[in-house]
Amino acid sequence: MKHYLAGKDYLGLLYYTPGQMNELIEIAQDLKRKWVMGEPHAYLRDKAYAMVFEKKSTRTRNSFHAAATALGAQSFYLRPDELQTSRGESIADTGRILDRYFDGLYIRTFGQEIVEEFAQNMKHPVINALTALEHPCQALCDLLTIKEKKGDFKGVKICYAGDVYNVCNSLLLGATMFGMDMSIAAPKGYDVPPVIWERALKQAEVSGSKIEVTQNFDQALRGADVVYGNTWHSMGENEEEKDKRIKDWMPYQINSSAMAKADKNAVFMHCLPGYIGEDMTEDVKEGPQSVIFDQGENRMHAVKAILVATTIRS
Ligand code: CP
Ligand code: NVA
Repeated sequence: MKHYLAGKDYLGLLYYTPGQMNELIEIAQDLKRKWVMGEPHAYLRDKAYAMVFEKKSTRTRNSFHAAATALGAQSFYLRPDELQTSRGESIADTGRILDRYFDGLYIRTFGQEIVEEFAQNMKHPVINALTALEHPCQALCDLLTIKEKKGDFKGVKICYAGDVYNVCNSLLLGATMFGMDMSIAAPKGYDVPPVIWERALKQAEVSGSKIEVTQNFDQALRGADVVYGNTWHSMGENEEEKDKRIKDWMPYQINSSAMAKADKNAVFMHCLPGYIGEDMTEDVKEGPQSVIFDQGENRMHAVKAILVATTIRS
């Protein structure tokens, strides 16, 4: 394994090249194989990571604890309300101090500028565990899952129907790195931020991906190999619009009739948590095309790869 990402932050796919993302996928595959075979892979013995979560989490937070433990490292959860940042200490000083104790910081927060400010003030890697702009740990897991389920990226079409936000942004960047097509089905007024769209278009020029945001759900579903769902109301930032969003998004629900319009071998993916009767139906969630629990497991393999690649200096 080469680790030319050592010392690099993992703040988003915006900061990564297709070659670097491919290296992470390969490391994740290797670590997953070792985990399945019961081979030891404690590459990060004596390392210690700090975790700060300003929003709720089941997968991101706990897969990190499991990943760090299996790698021989320790992970320490720092409650935001117990840090002095909650009484006004600056991010810069907090980052400089945590950098003296820990081998990296894993942080879920609001704006992308917050993870960037931590990264600017720390020599050790900062890993984005979700911001408004990106959810890059989810995207690595999604790429790994698509590769496993579809064999390759070339020729794969993703139909994404859910909040056009962090998960969508990172997946779009990942898809266009590897030549996948992605149709984002969304009601009028839900658009990809320009910084993400422009990068995605540039990558698509090189990789051959076709991308669109369309109000036509049937068109987005046509020929889709992956139907990807997400909540319609993301944590912390648009929850007050929940009722309006449910109304806006109901025509984009991933139910059995939607799945029937995709390729017959399509898989159903979802970053979770999802809401039954809103963004997905019980029959799709529990149906034969659903790979959501394999995908959920892959969160752990993906974050192991990120930890190993950004920590180990070869
Ligand atoms: N998909 C995801 O990030 O889930 P959690 O919010 O539970 O971490
Ligand atoms: N878009 C969702 C993803 C949750 C994993 C949110 O930000 O709440």
